Formats: sequence, structure tokens, C-alpha cells
Amino acid sequence: MLTRRLIALGGLLGASELLRRNRVPGSLLSVSAAEPIRHAVASPFVTPFMRPLAIPQVLSPVSSDESTDYYEITMREAQMEIIPGTLSTIWGYNGTYPGPTIRAKAGRRAVVKQINNLPESMSIHLHGGHTPPEFDGHPHDLIPPGTFKNYNYPNNQLPTTLWYHDHAVDATGRHVYLGLAGFYILSDELEDGLALPRDSNDVPLLIQDRLFKSDGSLNYPLNDETLIEGVLGDRLLVNGVIQPYFEVANRKMRFRILNGSNSRAYSLALSTGDPLIQIGSDGGLLAQPVLRSPINIAPGERLDVLIDFSRYSLGSRVVLTNRFSMDFGLAEIMEFRITRDEPDEVPIPTTLRTFERIPVESAARSRSFILADEVVNGRRLWTIDRKLYDPLRIDASINLNDVEIWEFINNSYSTHPMHIHDIEFQILDINGRKPATGDDGWKDVFLVPALGRLRVIGKFADLTGTYVFHCHKLEHEDHAMMGQFEVRPGNPQPPTGQV
Ligand code: C2O
Ligand code: CU
Ligand code: CU
Repeated sequence: MLTRRLIALGGLLGASELLRRNRVPGSLLSVSAAEPIRHAVASPFVTPFMRPLAIPQVLSPVSSDESTDYYEITMREAQMEIIPGTLSTIWGYNGTYPGPTIRAKAGRRAVVKQINNLPESMSIHLHGGHTPPEFDGHPHDLIPPGTFKNYNYPNNQLPTTLWYHDHAVDATGRHVYLGLAGFYILSDELEDGLALPRDSNDVPLLIQDRLFKSDGSLNYPLNDETLIEGVLGDRLLVNGVIQPYFEVANRKMRFRILNGSNSRAYSLALSTGDPLIQIGSDGGLLAQPVLRSPINIAPGERLDVLIDFSRYSLGSRVVLTNRFSMDFGLAEIMEFRITRDEPDEVPIPTTLRTFERIPVESAARSRSFILADEVVNGRRLWTIDRKLYDPLRIDASINLNDVEIWEFINNSYSTHPMHIHDIEFQILDINGRKPATGDDGWKDVFLVPALGRLRVIGKFADLTGTYVFHCHKLEHEDHAMMGQFEVRPGNPQPPTGQV
């Protein structure tokens, strides 16, 4: 049975677990690496653009009161036809992959009851959320099978495209791969007041790569090689459909693009060569729209873009391509078919949301972290400052309301999309140069170039407690390129709300 096999693969211990075990003298690694499973065997062939895009359902609250909307989600196994003619076992929120979309309003609380009907412990993280630590989905704050947890989201932050996904220690990669990811879209009055495409013209796109076995089951090969390179698929899915087509009108549309892949980055461009109109990044709207092509997107990152289909004649087709690949299954992501004559006359707003640059001089301190591979107990693993994740160690203590500069120094030939929980940051520089326009807004994932360095600045406001930061290549995160920081109530300043 598929699930059983995946669980067996999961039996390959996570690195933090390895370390814990190896603290005990004599308990030397008896489990060497699992059988290496090479992905030399290609996934079944699927003709691109044969199936329509699926759009995840918007979840309705089970109840609401003056301040709060209450939601309920059950994590469970389900069967889904991904490879035509076969059934794949997925693990999904409400048994769907992707999970249902939650649409929330800034300033209104959301409580999500997550019921775990899966055979393994889960932790749900709201990525991009400014969430109290007890509801942040810490990797060790687990929901055992058969139990539930209420996650309380204050939504007291800038609106943006967030996503919820599993964050269980050592197992995040496999859990997300099996389908545990969904959108959480937060908006506010300012954004609702902008003349941006809305409702059915505001479409979330979750891009992921996957490997499949010939019977249609998901193939998650975890071995010494993929711990380093990441698990990379040879088929591209958008919202759970392999290379879908999407029928659109000859008007502007908004796409909230999320790279939910375990380890693959994409370079997004339209087949026509026309630029994408970027209006937002991870943490919210940009100050102004910016025309870009291509736009790179690393695991965990979000891009808010408009595409103006009024430039194309009815009956024409435009492909969203990935310039990082020439492979059959990976170079073409999805196809837009301009089939409806419903033009919109509204121009794109020239100003979106103004925000201040956080001054470098306001930083209370700078820290730097070295990203590199190390041989630990005979295995090559990714580390931060030569250390693997240890739940008993705090890697950075921060005073509440302090502005800090964090620098990531990449001493490796691999890129690392570093992600910090709790707050949104601004990128100061990448290899000493200012980030490209569009990457200079609010960010919570930062792609640190191979052998390069990157600095971000952020204010640790409102919330105290322990959070994690990690590489968002999920195989790196699990094994165990992750650290913890603690925000301490050091600075008695009034809370500032949003930075
Ligand atoms: Cu999207 Cu800590 O992760
Ligand atoms: Cu996160
Ligand atoms: Cu990494």
C-alpha cells in the first residue's frame, strides 16, 4: 500500500533525531541511509494542457461571532486522479489537495480547528503569519493522530497571500509532498478598495513538482543524494493538476502564485515574451506595479501578479513557462486559453500600498549565519553555523521591538531559500547589491545565492516566544537546516502593530 511505503521511507531518521540518538554513547547509527531510490525512472507520460485548472474551494466558517470566524479542517487520506487513469493516494486538508482556501480579513480573528485523522503527528504552520508562537506550528508542537488543535490567528498584520502547510519535525517534506498545503488569503479595506481583479478573476496558483510511480502513486525518494539536492520531480502540477489549461476572458486577471515545491525553483515567463505585472511579494503589495520577465520563485515564495489577456485575440493561447528547465515536463507550467469576450476597462492602479524602508541605522544588532554542508556521523548534511536543528537550543535571542539585520552567508554551491517565521523583512542586499524591483517589498523567504550572501532587516514587534527559521527546501529543513530564535520581552515599548 502506498501510504505504508511512504511511511517506511519516513523511517529514515531525520537528522535531528539522529543527533539526539547519537548523544547516547554506544547507540551508533544502526540505520544507515535508506535504500537509495534513484529517480532515473521517469513518471508516466502525461500530455500537457489536457485537463482544466482546478481552483481550491473557499472554506466557509462553521460559525462566526463579532470578532472571529471559526473553521474546521480534517486532515485525511484520499484518492485522487492525478495521472489520468490511475489513482494517487494523497494526504489532504479535508481530504483535498490542495487544501481548501481560507479567505480572511485583517483585524478579524480566525480560529482553525485542525483534526488529525492521519496516521502520523502533524503541526500546521501558517506561512507568512504574524502568529503567537503557540499557534505558529512549531515543528515539535504536534497533533497526534486522532486528536485536534485549535489554531488562533489574530490576522493583525499586513494582508497577503499566506499558505498553511504541515511543519512536523523531520517529516515536513514528505507530508507536504503528499498534499498537505493550502492557501490562506488575507485582505483589508485598502486592498479591497483598489481596482484589482477580484472574485473569479483573482486566482491562486500552487506550483509543485512531483515524481510518480507507474501505478500513479506519489514517489518520494529520500536518500543521501536527495537530502543534499532536494527531492525534485519531473512533472509539474498547478493546484494538483499536471500542466493544466485555464480558460480566461480577454481582460486583466490576478494570480497569486505560490511555489509550494519541496526543493525546485522556477523562472516564470509568458510564452509571448510579454512581462508579468507584479503587484506583490511574500508579505503583501508592492508600492507600485512592476513589469518583470522572467521572475524567479524559490520554494516557499509567493508572487502576486496580473496578466493582461486583453493583448491577445480571442482563441489564442499563452503558456506560463519555466525558463529554469528544458525538460519536457518542467518547462511549460500551464496554458491560458483566451476564450471569453469580457473586456475590463479599469486601468491598473499606479499606487498600491506605500511603505517605509526600515532604516539600516535603526538596527539594534546584526547577526550572520553561515550556510554550509558538513559531514555529521558519516553523512553529508546541510547546517546553519555548522549546527543541525536542536529543539533544546536557541540560536538567537532578540529583544521585543528590536530591529535586526540578519545576514546569510552561503558557503556552498547550492542555493538556500531561507525562511524566518513571525515577521516580514526587507532585503537589504544580495551579494552587496540592492534587490531587483519587485524583490524589494515585504519578504519572508530569501533566496541566498550559491557562494553568495544576503542581508535582510526586520522588526520583531508585538509577539514574544520561540520561533524557527530554516531553509525552505523541505529536505534541507527536515535534515535539519533549521534554527530557533526567541523574542524576549526586553524592550518595554508600546506595541507598534505593523512595522
Ligand atoms: Cu513555509 Cu517554516 O515554513
Ligand atoms: Cu513560515
Ligand atoms: Cu537549503
